[in-house]
Amino acid sequence: MTDRSSLPTGDEKARTVRAMFDRIAPRYDRLNRIMTFGMDASWRRKSIAALGLGRGSSVIDVACGTGDFCRELQKARLDPIGFDVSFGMLSAAATDAPLVQGDGLRLPLRDGYADGLTCGFALRNVVDLKALFEESARILRAEGRASFLETAQPENLVLSFGHKVYFHKIVPMIGGWLSDKAAYSYLPKSSAYLPPKNELIALLENAGFKDVSVRLFGLGAVQLLTGTRR
Ligand SMILES: C[S@@+](CC[C@H](N)C(=O)[O-])C[C@H]1O[C@@H](n2cnc3c(N)ncnc32)[C@H](O)[C@@H]1O
Repeated sequence: MTDRSSLPTGDEKARTVRAMFDRIAPRYDRLNRIMTFGMDASWRRKSIAALGLGRGSSVIDVACGTGDFCRELQKARLDPIGFDVSFGMLSAAATDAPLVQGDGLRLPLRDGYADGLTCGFALRNVVDLKALFEESARILRAEGRASFLETAQPENLVLSFGHKVYFHKIVPMIGGWLSDKAAYSYLPKSSAYLPPKNELIALLENAGFKDVSVRLFGLGAVQLLTGTRR
């Protein structure tokens, strides 16, 4: 496992993350499909179903990247707006949902604006997880729903070993062949930023969410945290 102290923090992390996604944006979708064996779309669909929102509900997709969540949200007859800091990722997006270059920690939206919020694979990437959860709670109406999808470390020892080999050795290798070795070496290392499940749940509850739950997909390699705005 990577020692968290060797990874950038604060403004340096924000600059590193943004520059990295700007760089890998043109090949991001292709690499995602390969590295998740095409399962990432079904995880996003499950995250959206977990919101349990009715047709036409407004959903903010934080860290929307190339718009994968926005596309699935539209297919589910929801009304998304995507926000991301990386102009490269937004430029590579293929969706007709409105996309805004903006920071998920400071959204230009009034309190209680949205019915729902999605956020895919970005918890590792933000500078301040507490601030992200508090901002998410701020822009949701009471009883609004949020889904945060993120990688996880399987708990089963055999699966955990296989996952470590895949995520820390094979992913950087494939990333190096098809995209950017430095970026796809950083991505697995950035899991070190992720607090354990119980801490994530506590952070969400303290930020203003209730009924927080965690589900696992992909043999425990992916976690979905959901919560309801109090
Ligand atoms: C791994 S990508 C995930 C993209 C997309 N959500 C998906 O499911 O494929 C992480 C994204 O988080 C974005 N990001 C990182 N920090 C952010 C922040 N503070 N506000 C908004 N977007 C951010 C990056 O630019 C990048 O597009």
